[in-house]
Amino acid sequence: MKADYDWHILDNADQVATIACKEILTAAETAIAKQGQFKLVLAGGTTPEKVYRLLAESNADWPLWFIYYGDERCLPADHTDRNSVMAEQAFLGKVGIPQAQIFTIPAELGNEPAALQYRQVLKGALPFDLVLLGMGEDGHTASLFPGHQHNAEELVHAVYNSPKPPPERVSMSAKALGHARQVLFLITGANKQEAVKLWRSGHNLPVAKIISDHIDVYVDRDAYSD
Ligand code: 6PG
Repeated sequence: MKADYDWHILDNADQVATIACKEILTAAETAIAKQGQFKLVLAGGTTPEKVYRLLAESNADWPLWFIYYGDERCLPADHTDRNSVMAEQAFLGKVGIPQAQIFTIPAELGNEPAALQYRQVLKGALPFDLVLLGMGEDGHTASLFPGHQHNAEELVHAVYNSPKPPPERVSMSAKALGHARQVLFLITGANKQEAVKLWRSGHNLPVAKIISDHIDVYVDRDAYSD
């Protein structure tokens, strides 16, 4: 099954962040109106930080939000390179989402035990309402890297030999990341242009393995290549 993408080309990274924040808040309102809760998967890396800071300044029905992570790095829980530490500092520590509704990947336990635990968490979470994802220069997303083999039926993978430090990580699978009402990619910067070009020309990069009914790709002009 091929994914249908809606590509949105914005002038710069700030515009991407502004639009993404609005999209997330709208998706939250829709989900809460329909089902009384909003299940959001956060992306790691640096690109989403602007979005998280904008969310932290927004008004929303925070007690009805449920937070998951697309991937995590196997580092101590308070390490500054953790995706959870970035999200906590930029967003989660500033809004009223109950701690019991923030499902951090326990990657400090090691990739295998953490993946085992997070599979149990996801069993009660799918489908997500919105999944946020970034993309690396090599076309990876979450911690799904080119050339890595995984059991496609798993919801969460233990990742070894990541080309992006640290070498060990935990990642939701393509199957889990695509099990969502909406997937939103955020891609900015000239260093992503080559991977965007390959993706758009049909290369089977990890980003292309995320299949869902509604995928929006927000890119800035630096990253876009047709
Ligand atoms: C991570 C992320 C990773 C990230 C991309 C883009 O843990 O590093 O999950 O998939 O989204 O590498 O990273 P930047 O946004 O920093 O370019």
